[in-house]
Amino acid sequence: MSDVINWSGLGFGYIKTPYRFVAHYKDGKWSEGKLITDAQIVISECAGVLQYAQTAFEGLKAYTTADGRTITFRPDLNAERMAQSARRLEMPVLPEGMFLQAVEQVISANRQFVPPYGSGATLYLRPYMFGSSPVIGVKPADEYEFRLFATPVGPYFKGGVKPLTIRVCDFDRAAPHGTGHIKAGLNYAMSLHAIVDAHENGFDENMYLDAGTRTYIEETGGANFLFVTRDGKIVTPKSESILPSITRRSLCYVAEKYLGLTVEHRPVKLSELEDFAECGLCGTAAVISPIGKIVDHGKEICLSSGMNEMGETTKKLYDTLTGIQMGKIQPPAGWLYEIK
Ligand code: PLP
Ligand code: COI
Repeated sequence: MSDVINWSGLGFGYIKTPYRFVAHYKDGKWSEGKLITDAQIVISECAGVLQYAQTAFEGLKAYTTADGRTITFRPDLNAERMAQSARRLEMPVLPEGMFLQAVEQVISANRQFVPPYGSGATLYLRPYMFGSSPVIGVKPADEYEFRLFATPVGPYFKGGVKPLTIRVCDFDRAAPHGTGHIKAGLNYAMSLHAIVDAHENGFDENMYLDAGTRTYIEETGGANFLFVTRDGKIVTPKSESILPSITRRSLCYVAEKYLGLTVEHRPVKLSELEDFAECGLCGTAAVISPIGKIVDHGKEICLSSGMNEMGETTKKLYDTLTGIQMGKIQPPAGWLYEIK
């Protein structure tokens, strides 16, 4: 089946692959976990996930390197973040070893779906966990299911690296002291109306502000912001209610250690937008997608990098990060996890 896929024509959608990993949590412990072929899930009509959205997920990718290895990028950080999400949602923590075993087994079993080097596509991995036993009073479920499936994907935004137009959003994504810093399904349910509305009004994405004061920049529905100042500094918004993006953290490391740039991770005021020369969205799915224009209630802020291509610094960051992921640039220790 994989031989009929046009890798370079793929968008960001679901294509069923043959194997997925499943493990169950019951009576206070995780089952061993195994690969299965059934993509359907049968759970109680009263399952915690269905009634009270008790679920969290992760996203990471498998790549084919220039020399033909299959690798994933910093999967230990996804395991760690999934543990943080689980704790915040009163779900049991899946041990890191089991998470990595699931990653390894699913990629190995679906190896023919890992897109070839140079195709622009990757194999996206979606680990997730949910309350599977019945709950009717508001409380955590007693039983849980962890799954990990794989689907080959192309760019998250149509048009690949063409600069996006986004808007400052009047809806909020995450409350102060809420769940914005974890990858809870409920955060994404919250954002669905806002993204449909953004698309209907001609915008590619939403720029969410801090819900408390609506004066600081937070993130989009699925990626962190990275700004470049006119004098070439990298600035990324700091907030307790944004998801700590692994891509953003990696890009900041690359900026500092590989490109010799100054990096500031600090609260960023909406009023600072006009000071920036470049802006990008960073995430596993988004990689680093350039922003050309930000519209704040009719006021247009046009980044000097323009609407045709990535800004110069954004491009350097993109090339270095993807170069590391494709095995063309020496990675920092522990960043590439090879699937044998
Ligand atoms: N912010 C949100 C809300 C996300 O859903 C994601 C995607 O995972 C990111 C940021 C980027 O995080 P990462 O780079 O770890 O994929
Ligand atoms: C990812 O980048 O992996 C995500 O989970 C973002 C999602 C909105 C596709």
